[in-house]
Amino acid sequence: MDTPLANLPLPDESILESIPVLKALTKAHRFLAELKGMAKTIPNEGILISTLTMQEAKDSSAIENIITTHDELFRVADMKGEKINQAAKEVESYCAALQKSYHQTKATGLIRLNDILHIQAIIEPNKSGIRKIPGTVIANATTKEVIYTPPQHPDEIKALLSNLVNYINDAQSSALDPLIKMAIIHHQFESIHPFYDGNGRTGRIINILHLVKNGLLDLPILYLSRYIVRTKSEYYHLLQTVRDQNDWENWVLYIIKGIEETARETIHFIHEIKTLVFETKQRMRTELSGIYSQDLLNNLFFHPYTKVQFVMDQVGVSRITATKYLNQLTEHGFVEKHRISRTNYFVNQALVHLIRQQEELP
Ligand SMILES: Nc1ncnc2c1ncn2[C@@H]1O[C@H](COP(=O)(O)OP(=O)(O)OP(=O)(O)O)[C@@H](O)[C@H]1O
Ligand SMILES: [Mg+2]
Repeated sequence: MDTPLANLPLPDESILESIPVLKALTKAHRFLAELKGMAKTIPNEGILISTLTMQEAKDSSAIENIITTHDELFRVADMKGEKINQAAKEVESYCAALQKSYHQTKATGLIRLNDILHIQAIIEPNKSGIRKIPGTVIANATTKEVIYTPPQHPDEIKALLSNLVNYINDAQSSALDPLIKMAIIHHQFESIHPFYDGNGRTGRIINILHLVKNGLLDLPILYLSRYIVRTKSEYYHLLQTVRDQNDWENWVLYIIKGIEETARETIHFIHEIKTLVFETKQRMRTELSGIYSQDLLNNLFFHPYTKVQFVMDQVGVSRITATKYLNQLTEHGFVEKHRISRTNYFVNQALVHLIRQQEELP
């Protein structure tokens, strides 16, 4: 039987500021600051956000074995009404939840209870809302042995959630560094486990909102999901050792290390994407000066799988002109033409390749 979950703040938060934690924080903050600054130097931030959000949605969903490929994802936006891959649809919902909540938090400077409920409702429309019926436990997937029983009564869940939301939004609630605070918030949220499903994904979105809310990032571009996928058993294990052994330090270190590693990888990725945009621009201006425009260039990066309609909408040209542009881009090797169902897609292979490379990092 688990002891009931306590309210935040933790009884003595300052013990979390150990030497190893402080050292890890210094490094993580250095790379976070670099990432924040660097994001300002990319010519079109929309490109960066759309690429990284898509990647995050895919990775975050993969934690729960919702596996999809980029090809399916790029197509899903376009296949409304048709029979589409269920996994790709879930990933798209995650993207939508992420984008909407990011704009909310950016506008209000808050992460409110309603925002959290809204995120989960977009991710899990059929299982939305705070748990009302008891029975939800965290169990070992194979042995079915119960590892942890979260609070069961709706009143208790609501009280804990409102305590957590206060802790998140009240600057006076804790004197801790925002990154340590993030580790505590994530742990508490996953321990309240307020929903029937989607607790993990909602919690991971709250992480990025917290970074934005605290001014550590301006854009939603740092996501821990890939790190969590890579270190999944450690993630589950550490979540539980906090509870079983009150071992907060290793959990906090795990999260801070994830922030540092991910910030470094994202910095590297932004470098690569900047170079690619720049080179593509130069080459387009020389080889296809008659059709080059910034909007056309952006379109190839905004939609790694672009099509006539997207070019019509974004560049503001007729169907005939958009088709002509895309055919010329194909002839010059900027994109590759693929026919899927009844639509022609024009794939920015260099960008797709870069995204895959990023995924294959150890
Ligand atoms: N021992 C544990 N203590 C607290 N939380 C845990 C524990 N084990 C797992 N969790 C959390 O529960 C989440 C899974 O809950 P749920 O299935 O509701 O979310 P999900 O978004 O559907 O799944 P996932 O996180 O696997 O994508 C995990 O991501 C993790 O954060
Ligand atoms: Mg689930």
